[in-house]
Amino acid sequence: MMQIDVHNLSFAYGHRAVLRNMSFSLAPGDYLVVTGKNGTGKTTLIKCLLGFNPVKSGMIFYNHQDIINFKDWTSFGYVSQKYEDFNYEYPITVDELLAVNSLKKIKQPQRLKILDQLGILEIINENINKLSGGQLQRVFIARAMLNNPLVLILDEPTASIDKLNTKFFFQTVNELNSQGITIIMITHNESFDNMNYSHILNIGIDMNYHFQVREKCDLTEVEV
Ligand SMILES: Nc1ncnc2c1ncn2[C@@H]1O[C@H](COP(=O)(O)OP(=O)(O)O)[C@@H](O)[C@H]1O
Ligand SMILES: [Mg+2]
Repeated sequence: MMQIDVHNLSFAYGHRAVLRNMSFSLAPGDYLVVTGKNGTGKTTLIKCLLGFNPVKSGMIFYNHQDIINFKDWTSFGYVSQKYEDFNYEYPITVDELLAVNSLKKIKQPQRLKILDQLGILEIINENINKLSGGQLQRVFIARAMLNNPLVLILDEPTASIDKLNTKFFFQTVNELNSQGITIIMITHNESFDNMNYSHILNIGIDMNYHFQVREKCDLTEVEV
């Protein structure tokens, strides 16, 4: 269970103000879409939530505990925006990558289960340097899922995959959400048709933002 409360968050890089007085709350199991044009501060917000950008103005609470004192970071799975330039010099397989990246002792059957859930079981013994963008992206999501996160944060995850795989991917995310994992999905897509989100945070230019609740509908079956 992870209750998230953001209260009057402002953030600046030096003199460059990016976020101003942002407030919103998410209950455990919510699905937030964060949207807005390039450069409006979506990634900056995520970095505040993950503690990479230290909060100096405003507050963030996890289960009512101030982020300043928060330590349970394995509750968060994160796939950053910049995984494209990822490269390994030696031929490590998908399974080996996941094995060296798990903080907790996770046995191979659990890794198999996660890969199966993400539809990439067949590439378990592939060299990661030979994967397509879409496969690599799913491997990174598998890595983010290894520690059984309560919250999964995905920063523009479909930027390098085609339309059909995007639909399947959103279906997978909907399934993870229906298992109770809180989702924070960053996108600058106009269309959220296949995302079963519960809340939307639109960051506009001039640091305006709108946070809205949406009625949930069943989108676990996606038409392709
Ligand atoms: N490390 C940084 N140092 C200075 N400015 C930054 C840094 N990261 C992002 N910015 C600036 O902050 C603004 C918001 O960036 P970002 O959060 O990446 O936007 P988005 O993810 O919505 O495209 C942009 O103007 C960007 O140039
Ligand atoms: Mg970004």
